[in-house]
Parts: sequence; C-alpha cells; structure tokens
Amino acid sequence: MSIDLAALPRDFLWGTATSAYQIEGAVTEDGRSPSIWDTFSHTPGRVDNGDTGDVACDHYHRWREDVALMRELGVNAYRLSAAWPRVVPGGDGPVNERGLDFYDRLVDALLEAGITPSVTAYHWDLPQVLQDRGGWPERDTAHHLAAYASALAGRIGDRVKHWATLNEPLCSAWIGHLEGRMAPGLTDLTAAVRASYHLLLGHGLAAQAIRAAVPGARVGIVNNLSEIRPASGSAEDLAAARRMDGHTNRWWLDPVHGRGFPEDMREVYGVELPERAGDPETIAQPLDWLGLNYYFPMTVTGDPAGPAPYVREVRVPDVPRTGMDWQVDAGGIESLLLRLTEEYGARELYVTENGSSYPDAVREDGGVDDPERTAYLEGHLAACASAARKGAPLAGYFAWSLMDNFEWAYGYDKRFGLVHVDYATQRRTVKASGRRYAEIVRSHAEPGGEGPAV
Ligand code: FCB
Repeated sequence: MSIDLAALPRDFLWGTATSAYQIEGAVTEDGRSPSIWDTFSHTPGRVDNGDTGDVACDHYHRWREDVALMRELGVNAYRLSAAWPRVVPGGDGPVNERGLDFYDRLVDALLEAGITPSVTAYHWDLPQVLQDRGGWPERDTAHHLAAYASALAGRIGDRVKHWATLNEPLCSAWIGHLEGRMAPGLTDLTAAVRASYHLLLGHGLAAQAIRAAVPGARVGIVNNLSEIRPASGSAEDLAAARRMDGHTNRWWLDPVHGRGFPEDMREVYGVELPERAGDPETIAQPLDWLGLNYYFPMTVTGDPAGPAPYVREVRVPDVPRTGMDWQVDAGGIESLLLRLTEEYGARELYVTENGSSYPDAVREDGGVDDPERTAYLEGHLAACASAARKGAPLAGYFAWSLMDNFEWAYGYDKRFGLVHVDYATQRRTVKASGRRYAEIVRSHAEPGGEGPAV
C-alpha cells in the first residue's frame, strides 16, 4: 500500500511504545516492591495460562539490546513508562535511587542513539501497598502519584521533556474496578467512579509536579478512545451510543478540558463524586498535547440489565478482525483525531499507541512474516496522514509495540510487537512489519522533501 506522508511535519516523532510491567521483569530487583499487577497475575485464574510479568521481556537487563533494536528500526522516539514501585516502593515516602538509576541509564542510552524519550508516569502498576490502603478510590493516591512523578521528573527531567501523566485511566477505573478484568479486579461501580475521579485529579496534580520539576516540560495525558456507532437508527440504540460515548470518551476528555464531568453520565452512574473546591481547576491543567491510543471502533445497543452504562457491544459480521477479535477499522482513528481537533481544540496530538495482535507464523530462523499486521499499520498510518491533511495537528505516531510482551489478562499469547520475542531464549527478531515500519520512517526522513509516497 502506498501512503502519502507529505502532510506530516518534518520533525514528526516516529516511535514505538511499551510499558514497564509488560516488558521489564526483574520484579524483585534493586528494591522494587510488588504492584497490583504482580498480585493480580499471581492470583490463579486472572491471567491466561497463569502468565505473570516476573520475567516478561527481561528488558531490565536487556535494555541496551532493545535500544539497539530501536536504532535498527530507525525510529526517532520511544514511549516508555516508569514503574512507580521501583521509584517509590513504599507508595509514598522515600525515593529508591536504585530504581531511578535504571531510567537514568536508559534515558542516556536513548539520547545517545538519537531517540527522544516520552515518559508516562503511570501505566497501571500501582504499588500494592497503596492498594492495601484503598488504592484509586482514595484521594490520597492522587497526591502520592504527584509525589512519585515529582521524584521521577526531578531525576530525569533535565533530559526528558516529553511527559504523560497517565496511560488510559479508563482501563484503570472501568476495567480494573467495574468489570474486574484487570488489576485490582473489582466489580464495584462506586469504587470505579471514585477511582476515575481520583485518577483525573492525580493527572492534574502530577502535571503540576512535573512542570515544577522540569523547565520546558511538555505535558499531556494518554487516553484510549473509540468511535462509538449505534447498532441501528432506533432511539434506544442512539441513546446507548450516547451513553457509551460518555463512558468511553467524554468522561475522560471533558474534565481535563475544563468542562467538568458530563452531567448525563453522572446521572447514569448515580454515584456522588468526591469533589472538593478547587478540584475542577486542578484537573483542567493546561495540556501541551493529547495522546490517543486507538485500536478499534465499537458498535453498541442498550443493555438495561447493566452494569453501567447499560450498553453492550454488538458483533458486526463480516469485518476484518485481529487476533484479539477487535474490529479493524482505520476510519475510527481518523475521525477521533479530527474530533480532538475540532471539538476539544487540541493544539498538538500524538497517536501514543496503535497496533495489532495476530497469531504470528514463526519461521525456523525466528523471523515472522506478518502481512496482516503490516496491513493494519499501513492502513492506520494512511488514516493518520489523512487526518493531518484535514487539519489535525498530529506531531507523532508510536506503534504498539516495540516488541511482543505481557499483554495483561491475555498473558504472552497475544503478540503486538514489531519485533518477535522468543520467551524461552529472549531472542528478539524484527518481524516483516517492523521492517516495513523502518522503511516508512526512512522515507519520511529523506532529505529535501516529505519523502515519496511509500
Ligand atoms: C492498551 C494498553 C497497552 C497494550 C495495548 C494492546 O490498552 O495501554 O498497554 O496492552 O492496549
């Protein structure tokens, strides 16, 4: 497929993304304490095959090799998250310098390789000690996030300017506290709504803390959004789609843009928010950029039997799907980028994650021919370029993921990497999709122009 990248700026960030718990392993090394994902993954029945992040990609020891892989791909940016339980193992209180040393070394190696780091403070790995004290449903957790972010930013902020406070607070709140499919595994609407509130409060406090610690910081938040489509034109389905849009998109976007929590959704949840004077302003810190994680659109109908928001997904027949059973539809990424531009006035946008899992066919030499992943990548990049042509201020794209890794409740069976990982040997091999990504990145970087359509 030929992609016209001319609308993307010359200094576009071409990156890959990962997160700490999914790749690092070394869960007991250098003073790290357990996170809620250690607890969850070690609870029988929670994760497919009983997989855990104990070793994962062993990135904590193999980071040099992984930076070399990024060089091989020719990317100029890398989105990573830091592990709160490494940096502040007690959840709050003393900072663990040995934990910070790891990110310090990694950042130096990235910069030396010409790769701009984008650091996410929180990608779901809450220290278990804080969960024991109530976790996100408790207000203190938001303040502890800010203190941890301050320590992290204080150590690496002289070199790292690109910061995200949270990754996908929707998953922490709704999937972790309402659906129970992710850590901490609760199914409690009140806890979920309180968690959502304190996550966004934590975002605002952490944004302030990062800015205080880092001159010239560019701070944003990363949300996973979906285009929501009604199953039919009936009034019920339209109302269901509106509720799902509130649950998935507006609940996370409106408060950080100074619009407060959507009234219609407050009514749907029927849970009192733990609001205090001054919170709306804290939550609505000015954003330097917005991050979009996009995977699939959703088609919905009403489901009065619940749980909130009383909606269920309808399976659209005869559409392409990934190995996650997620619908492949690049139109959704374009429409979301344009919505963030037009409805929320975004001044700088990043696709902070986008990618696909397929059951890869591994050759004898460990290599992978993955035409479906390549097609997904090309289709979504073309849609991003199209959004940019229509005015979306898109400044970067981070492919999920650099390499196969621990895919949360699905364990290691689901592979999203541009690089294949053989978990028995920890051998990494660039997949065909990774080589294609390298080619696209290279073509855009060609001197003297936007690069040819590739
Ligand atoms: C996103 C997560 C990321 C990864 C992808 C597939 O929801 O942010 O860690 O698991 O999905």
